[in-house]
Amino acid sequence: MIPGMGAVATTLIAGVEAVRRGFAKPIGSMSQMGTIRLGKRTEDNTPLIKDWAPIADLNDIVFTGWDIFGGNLYDAAKTAGVLDRDQLESMKPFLESIEPLPAVFDQRWVKRLSPKVQKVGKNKCDLANQIRNDIAEFKSRTDRQVMIWCGSTEIYIEPKPVHMTLEAFEKGLVDNDEDIAPSMLYAWACLKEGIPFANGAPNLTVDIPALQELSKKMNAPICGKDFKTGQTFIKTVLAPAFKARQLGVAGWYSTNILGNRDGEVLDDPDNFKTKEVSKLGVLEHIFQPEKNPELYGDIFHKVRINYYPPRGDNKEGWDNIDIFGWLGYPMQIKVDFLCRDSILAAPLALDLCLFMDLAARTPALRGLGIQEWLSFYFKDPDTAPGVYPEHDLFIQSMKLKNTLRHIMGEDLITHLGLEYYGD
Ligand SMILES: NC(=O)c1ccc[n+]([C@@H]2O[C@H](COP(=O)([O-])OP(=O)(O)OC[C@H]3O[C@@H](n4cnc5c(N)ncnc54)[C@H](O)[C@@H]3O)[C@@H](O)[C@H]2O)c1
Repeated sequence: MIPGMGAVATTLIAGVEAVRRGFAKPIGSMSQMGTIRLGKRTEDNTPLIKDWAPIADLNDIVFTGWDIFGGNLYDAAKTAGVLDRDQLESMKPFLESIEPLPAVFDQRWVKRLSPKVQKVGKNKCDLANQIRNDIAEFKSRTDRQVMIWCGSTEIYIEPKPVHMTLEAFEKGLVDNDEDIAPSMLYAWACLKEGIPFANGAPNLTVDIPALQELSKKMNAPICGKDFKTGQTFIKTVLAPAFKARQLGVAGWYSTNILGNRDGEVLDDPDNFKTKEVSKLGVLEHIFQPEKNPELYGDIFHKVRINYYPPRGDNKEGWDNIDIFGWLGYPMQIKVDFLCRDSILAAPLALDLCLFMDLAARTPALRGLGIQEWLSFYFKDPDTAPGVYPEHDLFIQSMKLKNTLRHIMGEDLITHLGLEYYGD
């Protein structure tokens, strides 16, 4: 179930269908293409994750969702302009068969978009209950459900009193509290139905005590926010390398040009602020400047996104990194990543749906609420209060695979390796 059926959602759905029909490979998806080592390195036991873990089969996935544009997913995919026209044509009847339901939308939260269709209700509680009705209908024709927000980035807000307890939040729904965002209505409806919720955008959404309380109460998993796809993905690969080698960083300037609808929405300063906070957080946690003040105590870190229509979904992200080495001598690294935003995001959305569904069926995980083992997928992973997030991609990958081993009753892999030496 996908609130927001734009570029990422249509690329995900058309992609799953293309894989099901044998037209293409699910490249970029750890759940589909990744392997996992079990036991010692000498045992040569490395199955594909999809053949070993009890995750849902792609053939069993059914899609639904909500949007403000009306029409069907063939039109939406054409508008997004991510996939080739020929590829879309070959799946036209399938994509035409999925029509987004009318969304709960409020332009205060996404200023650059004007809705063609949207739900109307007497207050936010009524609107959230209309989403629950949509979910109930979907439940009646499916065995299990997962929701993933692929909607536009909402404007930046800090948690307010209405977000602090479930009681205050539910009162706020009835009182039409202005600090309850549309994405929170979807999340509340979803968790209330005991369904896991993942957030592909940087909005606050479930990162508030009220919805974390609901997640635990309903045994409905939640995880982090904002897909870690392009520049931040590379950042969380490079930064741990500098840290591991004790190389200092004086500055990291990141800029992007992006021409899709996401770029248009992020062109508004209040919406960009939400993205900026999410993108800026990673270096702070990886470098821990308070523990390494001589190397990282004085970093200048800047992130910009500029809306540039000619590039469409094909983002270009530049990084200039000023590092310093032995005796303080300066060096520079330049990265120019000509990426495809939705091509990078779609496999992450797929994995999240499959792993969140697995979490919801795993007694050792579902009662925890927050699924930190899925931080691999996010710019801004959720963690327990007082626990800082791990942003290093390779720690995240180890955490994910060890969690899979743990729930499958396999030995964890610590990389100690002493067992290979001695008698
Ligand atoms: N593609 C990436 O690499 C990437 C990475 C990280 C995060 N994201 C985030 O994922 C989200 C989706 O990106 P996209 O490129 O598909 O954007 P998009 O603009 O193509 O699609 C977003 C869709 O959400 C809809 N929408 C907005 N508010 C809604 C609401 N209240 N209810 C239902 N639908 C609503 C819009 O109408 C639009 O169709 C964005 O927030 C983006 O910032 C994308």
